[in-house]
Amino acid sequence: MSEAVRAVALFKTYGVGPSAVHALDDVNLTIARGTVAALLGPSGSGKSTLIKALGFVSPADRGEVYFEGRLVVKDGAPLADLAYLRRRHLGFVFQKANLTSFLTARENVEIACEFGGKTDGRKRARELLEYLDVAGREHSYPEMLSGGEQQRVAIARALANEPSLILADEPTAALDSVRSRSVMELFRKVAHDRGAAVLVVTHDHRALEVFDELYEMEDGKLRPHTRNTAAVK
Ligand SMILES: Nc1ncnc2c1ncn2[C@@H]1O[C@H](COP(=O)(O)OP(=O)(O)OP(=O)(O)O)[C@@H](O)[C@H]1O
Ligand SMILES: [Mg+2]
Repeated sequence: MSEAVRAVALFKTYGVGPSAVHALDDVNLTIARGTVAALLGPSGSGKSTLIKALGFVSPADRGEVYFEGRLVVKDGAPLADLAYLRRRHLGFVFQKANLTSFLTARENVEIACEFGGKTDGRKRARELLEYLDVAGREHSYPEMLSGGEQQRVAIARALANEPSLILADEPTAALDSVRSRSVMELFRKVAHDRGAAVLVVTHDHRALEVFDELYEMEDGKLRPHTRNTAAVK
C-alpha cells in the first residue's frame, strides 16, 4: 500500500540551555495505508510530540513531513494548507472522547461529516455508528454512554471524512482491558478494511498482537520495537 505519512529527520527541542528537552531527536518513520502501528515508550519520551508533528498540530523544529508522497512541512514551515489537510484527510482520537455534550452520538458524527464537506452527513453518521457497533446508541447524549461507547463514537467521528491517516493518543487509557482490546481491534479493522494508516500511542502492552508494526520511543528517539525486529529475522 502507498505511504500515508513519512517523517524524515524530525528534531524538536523544548526550552534552552541545560534545561532543554529533546522531545524529538532524529525521528524517521513511514506509515503505509492499510497498516495499524503502535507507538510505545515511557512517559515524557516524545510520543505526543511526534503525534502532533505528524498531525500538523505543532510542527517539529527541523525535518520533513511528507503526506501521501508530497512534502508538506519542512523545518517547521508549512508548504501546504495544513488546516485543510487536517480537516479533510486526518482523523484524531484522544484519551478522552471529548464529544460535544449537547449533541447526540449521531449528531456528533454528523457535524464532523458536514464540517469536512460531506453532503450526506446523517446517512454517513448512521453507517459509521453501525460499523463501530454503537448504532443502538445513536440518539443518546454522551453522558448516557459508557466510556467504551463514547470512544467508539469518537472513532466514528474521526472516520467522518474517510481519513487516510488516523492518529490516536492513548485512546484506551480510560478503559478496562476488555474494552481497550475491542477498541484496538477496531483500529485494526479500520486500517485493514478502509485502507487508512493508523498510529496509536498506548501504554497497554496487553493487546499488542493487534498491531502490524510496533515502535518505541525513548528520550526522543524512535526505534522499531523488538517484536518487529524478531519478525524480520
Ligand atoms: N509545550 C511544552 N513545553 C515544554 N516542554 C514540553 C512541552 N510539551 C512536551 N514537553 C516535554 O517534552 C517531552 C516529551 O513530551 P511528550 O508529551 O511528547 O511525551 P509523551 O511520550 O507523550 O509522554 P506521556 O506518556 O506522559 O504522555 C517531555 O519531557 C515533556 O515534558
Ligand atoms: Mg503523551
